[in-house]
Formats: sequence, C-alpha cells, structure tokens
Amino acid sequence: MQRIPMVNLQRQYLSLKEEIDEAIQSVLYSSDFIMGEAVSEFESHLCQYLGARFAVGCASGTDALQIALMAFGVGPGDEVITSPFTFVATAETIALLGARPVYVDIDLRSYNIDPNLIANRITSRTKVIIPVHLFGQPADMAPILSLAREKGLRVIEDMAQAIGARYEDRAVGTLGDIGALSFYPSKNLGAYGDAGAIVCNSPELAERCRLISLHGSKERYRHEVVGVNSRLDSLQAAILDVKLKHLEDWILARSQVAGRYDEALRGLDLVVPYRAPNSRHVYHQYSIRTSRRDVLSDFLVDRGVANAIYYPIPLHLQPAYQPLAESGTRFPVAEKVSKEIISLPMFPELEDKEIETITSALVEFFRQSN
Ligand SMILES: Cc1ncc(COP(=O)(O)O)c(C=O)c1O
Repeated sequence: MQRIPMVNLQRQYLSLKEEIDEAIQSVLYSSDFIMGEAVSEFESHLCQYLGARFAVGCASGTDALQIALMAFGVGPGDEVITSPFTFVATAETIALLGARPVYVDIDLRSYNIDPNLIANRITSRTKVIIPVHLFGQPADMAPILSLAREKGLRVIEDMAQAIGARYEDRAVGTLGDIGALSFYPSKNLGAYGDAGAIVCNSPELAERCRLISLHGSKERYRHEVVGVNSRLDSLQAAILDVKLKHLEDWILARSQVAGRYDEALRGLDLVVPYRAPNSRHVYHQYSIRTSRRDVLSDFLVDRGVANAIYYPIPLHLQPAYQPLAESGTRFPVAEKVSKEIISLPMFPELEDKEIETITSALVEFFRQSN
C-alpha cells in the first residue's frame, strides 16, 4: 500500500538538488561557517521578502522568541499574554526567563488568540503580548495592536508557522514590534537542521537582538549584557537563501492543495480551515475539526494516510506548566479544539493521486459514519 507522509522533504530536496548542493559547496569552500557572508545575504533577502527593515538570524524559532523577550527585558515578576493553543516553545521561553505565561482563550474559527478576551487579562505586570499565527493563518492583529498601543505593551508575533502570510496586505512579522521565525525543516521555509530569525523595523531593537544573540557582545571579549549563543549557521543560511526564491511558488502550491481538500470535503460533517477575509493563509497545516477525531486518525492510518494532532494538550494543562498555572482558570475553546483537531498531509509537492487517496479515505469515513 502507498503510504502518504505529512511532509516529504526529500522530494523537495531532489527538485532543487543542483542549486542546494552548489550553495552548500560554496560555504564549504569558503569555510566561513559562523557569521559568514551567506548569513548577511540571506538576512537581507529575508528583509526584502517580508518588507521588514532588519533581520537577525539565530539558531531556532525558540531562540528567536527568547531573544525577543530578552530584548524587552522580560524577567521575574513579568507577565506575557499568549495563546494556550500553540507549540510549547511560546510559553517555554517566557517561563525560562522567570516570567509567567498568561493565557487567553482562542477563537473557535481561526484557532488564534481571541482579541476580545485580552483586555481582561492585562495587569500592571503585563509586558508583552505574543499572538501566534497558527497553522499559517494570521491572528487578528488590528485589535491586538491597538490594545497594545493603548496599554503600552510590546507585541512579538510568533510567525514560526506563517512566513509569507499577510494581514491587511502586510506580511505577518512586520505588524508588531518583532516577528519570530522558525526554519525547522518541516516549516514552509525549512532549513536542513535548526534555524530561526528575528525581524523588526527598529534599528535599536535589531541591534539589541543581535547583541543578545552573540553572548551580549559587540566587541570581542567585552560583554555588555547577558546574552546567549544563538547564531544562524552559514550552511543553513545558504540553503535557506536558495529555498526563499521558491517560497511563493510553494505557498501557491499549498493553497492549491488546500483548495482541492476544500472541494472534496464539502458537505461532510467536519470543519475545514477558516480563512479571514483580510488575510492570506499560507497553509503550514491543513487542519480539520471533527468530534470523531481519534477514530478518524486510526482510519486514515489504516488507509496509509499519515495525520497529526497539533496540539493534543493545551499549554495550561501541560504537567510542566502546572506550577505557573492559575488555579481554576479554564480555556474551553482551546480544550475543545485540542480534542477535535486533526491535520492532513500538506506539502507543496503532494501529487494529484495522493490528494485523491487522502480525500477518498475522508469521504469514505464520513459517509460510513452518517
Ligand atoms: C508556533 C511555534 N512557535 C515556536 C516554534 C519553535 O521553533 P523551533 O522549532 O525552530 O525552535 C515552533 C516550531 O517548532 C512553532 O510551531
């Protein structure tokens, strides 16, 4: 039986083999592995692509979030507002700095932080809001930004899953104070290992993030602030620079796959991804919702169709985060969605016959269960 994975990175590599191999070779010959020219070139192309003034490469999306929080001086006693329905890195970095993640429930359609519920959660300790553009769908930024402005809060966009997504015709990551990117291999723009970046429009912030990412040092062996060691490798930058040129084509291919899914699933008892009218979704995931999620997951696996649950446990219920949780605070929408959500295979190189296998299996499941 043909097995269809969630992503097929080898297929993408083979389609770009010559370009990628050449880029890797050129870094190997230069032997400029750390802070090489490939890094500054990629940073400048990333800025052009997003319409951001500054980009600072770093070692992962998790580090991008941590460095951004450090740049705003987040520490013990501070609170950072974010979504409970995201990858753990969003809250982990807040906790690592001694601050407290304060969750706000999500919107049932977009699965992103519900802007209407944020104001109630702001206290005198709140410093930053981190909206997450989950699955590639932009969070509703206008009300978040105006609330942040009114209350004097900073906004870090967790755009790990959403490079290329647009909100009111601006690239996500350029709306708030800082955008934090991940280039984890399976992301829409993925490196061949861990990698990340920070984007912003403020020269002071960019300089501060760069300083923090380089052990807090501008001048060798003189350390102005406590920093971290988080650089973007030249090899990863060279690979990303090749791949960035193809990103728009890949986003288009992803939206075509999403369109094919939509069409085939129309009329079935499930919820397809929501698209906000003023946004461009980039389909990092195509996630559907059904009350029969677990049975569906097994059924798809039997038919050779991989699937994944992002995320089965919201952050406020994670064991490691219990000591930081506020007792009795529940986030009913996040809890409901975590029980019903299931993501289907999604990558630009998915072939027609694979899409056909996936959608036929879904149609069979939902017709049977009617
Ligand atoms: C929403 C979100 N935030 C942060 C991260 C962390 O990125 P990384 O894995 O590059 O550290 C990821 C992905 O892995 C993510 O999906």
